[in-house]
Amino acid sequence: MSDIDSLNSLEAEILASVGAASDEAALEAVRVAALGKKGSVSEKMKTLGGMDPEQRKTVGPALNALRDRVAAAIAEKKTALADAALEARLAAETLDVSLPVRESPLETGRIHPVSQVTDELVAIFSAMGFSVAEGPDIETDDLNFTKLNFPVGHPAREMHDTFFLPEKENGERLLLRTHTSPVQIRTMQSQEPPIRVICPGRTYRFDMDQTHTPMFHQVEGLVIDRGAHLGHLKWVLEEFLKTFFEVPSVELRFRPSFFPFTEPSMEVDVRCRKLPNEIRIGEGDDWLEILGCGMVHPNVLRNCGLDPDVWQGFAWGIGIDRIAMLKYGMPDLRDLFGADARWLSHYGFRALDFPTLAGGLSS
Ligand code: DAH
Repeated sequence: MSDIDSLNSLEAEILASVGAASDEAALEAVRVAALGKKGSVSEKMKTLGGMDPEQRKTVGPALNALRDRVAAAIAEKKTALADAALEARLAAETLDVSLPVRESPLETGRIHPVSQVTDELVAIFSAMGFSVAEGPDIETDDLNFTKLNFPVGHPAREMHDTFFLPEKENGERLLLRTHTSPVQIRTMQSQEPPIRVICPGRTYRFDMDQTHTPMFHQVEGLVIDRGAHLGHLKWVLEEFLKTFFEVPSVELRFRPSFFPFTEPSMEVDVRCRKLPNEIRIGEGDDWLEILGCGMVHPNVLRNCGLDPDVWQGFAWGIGIDRIAMLKYGMPDLRDLFGADARWLSHYGFRALDFPTLAGGLSS
């Protein structure tokens, strides 16, 4: 074999090992075996000294060129191996940002929809300058009925509608309040007007079917001021319903009605579209009764020591459970109080999702 042929086969052999090196350690071994002090190329270099000048003239430059090509091939392979290693690491360490965050056991508790909706009501009305007033669940007959101008003999005063506590020695019968309206009386008796309050809370009636439970929730609204009138009432209700149902506009229909504690009294319907499994507020051709309201009756003002010739006011009452069901699509009222953890984990709200007008009511 000529000198040049043997150099060619040496080069082919080394380049094949370079190509086959699968990591940096293997490549380094190939480099040492070829270009290291005792490597195959270095050994060849050492033979140059013993060659005659003619032979050295051809073999010398060929060998130098071979060494440079081998060194270049090794350097190139080294870069390729480093790139591949980086690629592999990036692929292995990819973060899937679309994976749902697994909740820690401490965060799996849920806020009940009634609590959430009550917080929504407080957020909406506090932005309109209302404060929150509360009263006891166990109420006197006087505050639940008499001061609210319920005539003697009104059916709500009967045993079959109301839960009464055992009669006291003095003949007084306490009861579970049948509405949040007694908190109106408590507020007017304890605060100087002007008054702007909402009174959310539990209420009780002797009733049980798909849309009635013996315990339920109402929110009462009360405004007392010198010039308060029906126009204000209408605006407050429109603003409230629009904000609560998170729709750009609502259309309300006021129908004459009767409550002992308001005159005139009205029931309010909101325009909606009734779909098989959903009611959409603010669109469509149907109407849905949503609340009762009116101008506070002069007798009620007088019963609270306010002069009806100076002060007037308006009030309204809404079922919190009912608007929660409408907004969040819960079909059966009884489920709200069934204490079923599966129901709550489906319909409940995350603990830190408190509603604010700025942050989005039901984000
Ligand atoms: N208290 C009424 C009820 O339980 C609701 C209500 C209607 C409250 C009209 C009001 C009102 O303040 O003005 O059915």
